[in-house]
Amino acid sequence: MPEPQFDQATYDKKCKARQAKNKVRMMHHHAYLAKDMEETRKFYEDLLSMPLIGTWIERTNPVTGEPDNYIHTFFELGDGSCLAFFQFKNVKQNADHAIQRFEQINPFTHHIAIEVTDDEALQDYRKRLDEADYPYVLTDHGYLSSIYLHDPNGMQVELTTRVPNTDVMMARAGDDARSILDRWMAEDDVPTNNFERGAGWVAKDAKA
Ligand SMILES: [Fe+2]
Repeated sequence: MPEPQFDQATYDKKCKARQAKNKVRMMHHHAYLAKDMEETRKFYEDLLSMPLIGTWIERTNPVTGEPDNYIHTFFELGDGSCLAFFQFKNVKQNADHAIQRFEQINPFTHHIAIEVTDDEALQDYRKRLDEADYPYVLTDHGYLSSIYLHDPNGMQVELTTRVPNTDVMMARAGDDARSILDRWMAEDDVPTNNFERGAGWVAKDAKA
């Protein structure tokens, strides 16, 4: 059967209607532990241009209910959502709570993807990273184009942008999303449904 013709206006209307019903409105913040808050500030504010918009010093730990001393910061994205970070004054306590003790994490274990406006912005970030001699990996997902890098805390950050094929691929995938999941859960060897990219995506370029 031929692929149904993609119509941008119809797809946009369908997405808007689905999203309007959703009371979970947007990401407010994502939080991670910082090894060094000033190094973290330099990375997010100076390198990625995400302004530091709030810094709280907390003297009670709400998890233990005991007196404590930690800092909590918020770095803002263009939609008002934030990447947030904590750092405890007690270095051992800080390291004990950290995921992999701030070792650079595998992207399958955890990563946070933040969207930039367009490919021009993505290329601008790439230039900045090159100038700063900061390591990264480029990846073409088919439906997104991304730069992967680790922040100073070992957290993997994905800078991503939509590409001309994004909506077409998402529209095609959307109607079958649940049935594909069910099939993958039930069967051991399911072929890829991502025909644009072949067997799977690979990093296309890396700056070590
Ligand atoms: Fe991702």
